[in-house]
Amino acid sequence: MNKNGSTIIFAHRGSAGTHPENTMPAFEAGLEAGAEGLECDIQLTKDLVPVVIHDETVNRTTNGQAWIKDLTYEEIKRLDAGSWFSPKFGGVSIPTLEQLFEWAAGTSLTLNVELKNGIVRYPGIEKIVLDLVYAYSLENRTIISSFNHYSLVEVRRQDPDIETAVLFMEGLYEPWNYAGNIKADGLHCFFPVAVPELLVGARKANMPVRPFTVNEEETMQNLIKGGCAGIITDWPEKAVHVRNSSGN
Ligand code: G3P
Ligand code: MG
Repeated sequence: MNKNGSTIIFAHRGSAGTHPENTMPAFEAGLEAGAEGLECDIQLTKDLVPVVIHDETVNRTTNGQAWIKDLTYEEIKRLDAGSWFSPKFGGVSIPTLEQLFEWAAGTSLTLNVELKNGIVRYPGIEKIVLDLVYAYSLENRTIISSFNHYSLVEVRRQDPDIETAVLFMEGLYEPWNYAGNIKADGLHCFFPVAVPELLVGARKANMPVRPFTVNEEETMQNLIKGGCAGIITDWPEKAVHVRNSSGN
């Protein structure tokens, strides 16, 4: 929630609807659209540099073909991560998490940093990311999320205070109990499983819910009315408009 109790709009991978996902132009567009938060995905290069990219390979969103774990950052930074989306973004590169943090430190955005530590395992990713959070003094406005809940437990072991959130796709029963058991602070669920029972129960348990990826206006409206602390969307401008017109 924002300080005034309204739903925080998170630009998913930046403004991924209008810009090449997980690039600096996409994050800048999210801020420009009025989002108060952003979501980004983190993988590690061969030389252990945290980079902002959703897939485990560079194949879909760049002009390269390789696993990220097999490329050094020097190799990664030469790739074009914009042209696949539109020629007007040609030459845009994959940002490092440090580049994103350096920029975000000058904003008041809430940062939802998703550790992609499942399909490829990146031992040590938790410490590498936490150290950067501290280096840029972002600990009071960062949420670490992951589908790998062992990674979240490791984050909690290393930092008793930083906010964490469990990512999940399925219709779990009373997931706030599960999240509480692993000392996570929030529920980031696939939006269709954010049913009224979940929203009401989570609210009673004082656990924030931030569904993803919410791109339809009607769903945005329902989730905002349902008291979600945040919604994660590819279309932040639309979500900000829906939120501001709903009075929530
Ligand atoms: O963090 C919410 C959302 O990004 C999770 O799914 O696959 O888009 O990273 P994905
Ligand atoms: Mg993500």
